[in-house]
Amino acid sequence: MKLVIAIIQPYKLEEVKEELYKSEINLITVSEVLGHGRQMGVTEVYRGAKETGNLLRKMRLEIAVNDNYLEPAIKAIVKGAKTGETGDGKIFVLELKECVRIRTEERGPVAIG
Ligand SMILES: Nc1ncnc2c1ncn2[C@@H]1O[C@H](COP(=O)(O)OP(=O)(O)OP(=O)(O)O)[C@@H](O)[C@H]1O
Ligand SMILES: [Mg+2]
Repeated sequence: MKLVIAIIQPYKLEEVKEELYKSEINLITVSEVLGHGRQMGVTEVYRGAKETGNLLRKMRLEIAVNDNYLEPAIKAIVKGAKTGETGDGKIFVLELKECVRIRTEERGPVAIG
């Protein structure tokens, strides 16, 4: 199991979700976050992301997947979020030790989705 954390441009959220759904990835957590990459937040303001100091508004996606869905998840996020411009975002992949569906107490891959 893997935990995919993606930081994307807010205006790309709908496109990324659509691509994920096409790949049968339907379970997702989304948070609004602030961040900057290596341009230190100075070059992206014209694209409409609101600024707080040098921090720009981004969306953080958390998607827990079974291993066979990792590459589809990455491809879907890239397809939905990529413009080729700075600030497109980043994807982090972590090993996921456990997942528990609280309602049923199912654990592991069967609990993910
Ligand atoms: N190494 C990192 N650690 C934590 N958060 C990061 C890291 N890199 C990027 N982020 C987050 O992802 C967002 C988007 O990053 P961004 O796409 O600007 O990365 P970048 O490395 O500057 O690449 P680019 O040159 O394409 O802009 C940042 O605003 C920040 O929230
Ligand atoms: Mg950047």
